[in-house]
Amino acid sequence: MNNVFYMNHPLVQHKLTILRDKNTGSKEFRELISELTMLMGYEATRDLPLKEVEIETPVALAKTKVILGRKLAFVPILRAGLGMVEGLLSLIPAAKVGHIGLYRDPETLKPVDYYCKLPSDIPERDVIILDPMLATGGSAIAAVDTIKKQNPRSIKFLCIIAAPEGMKALCDAHPDVSIYCAALDEKLNDHCYIIPGLGDAGDRIFGTK
Ligand code: PRP
Ligand code: URA
Repeated sequence: MNNVFYMNHPLVQHKLTILRDKNTGSKEFRELISELTMLMGYEATRDLPLKEVEIETPVALAKTKVILGRKLAFVPILRAGLGMVEGLLSLIPAAKVGHIGLYRDPETLKPVDYYCKLPSDIPERDVIILDPMLATGGSAIAAVDTIKKQNPRSIKFLCIIAAPEGMKALCDAHPDVSIYCAALDEKLNDHCYIIPGLGDAGDRIFGTK
């Protein structure tokens, strides 16, 4: 069974409201995506193992803790996932970054893959996949399928808004993947856009359309 974490922290919910607003322009939209990812990344890295070290403060020796050299890889799904990379790298600058290119065919709404470049040592890494939108779940499932072929240590999926349909599809297809999400919305519309959602995340981040 999947672990699914909903981020109901007031800061997350406040920023999400501004993100959804159609009057929020691309600059602010990008900043908010970055800030939300940082806040969600705080939760998604809660299980990082620690080891005890001894250091000297200006006044005494202290036994204290550092992260136990766990290797992470962040994998944004292009394009919209790119907007989430910087926020997470600001927390963990040593992580490596892979990329998966997928877009939804406007007719079939199925994911079409056009790019994949992952760190070569992925079997030693815990992977966090980044995509702000989990709609039908097709893109997320395809990304997990692709990454699993390279045997990572574990996979987490970090999204900002999910539709119930996509959440169920991802959980059914990959019950071992932990999912972190800021909001579970109401439904998909006839074009498989999330309602109320925020529109097309890629277009809003990059100012296209
Ligand atoms: C969006 C979004 C997800 C996908 C979600 O990308 O960023 O990758 O749709 O939809 P799904 O759950 O139904 O697969 P899109 O296909 O619009 O590509 P883009 O980021 O390049 O605009
Ligand atoms: N992709 C988006 O960017 N938005 C949606 O609502 C659904 C898929």
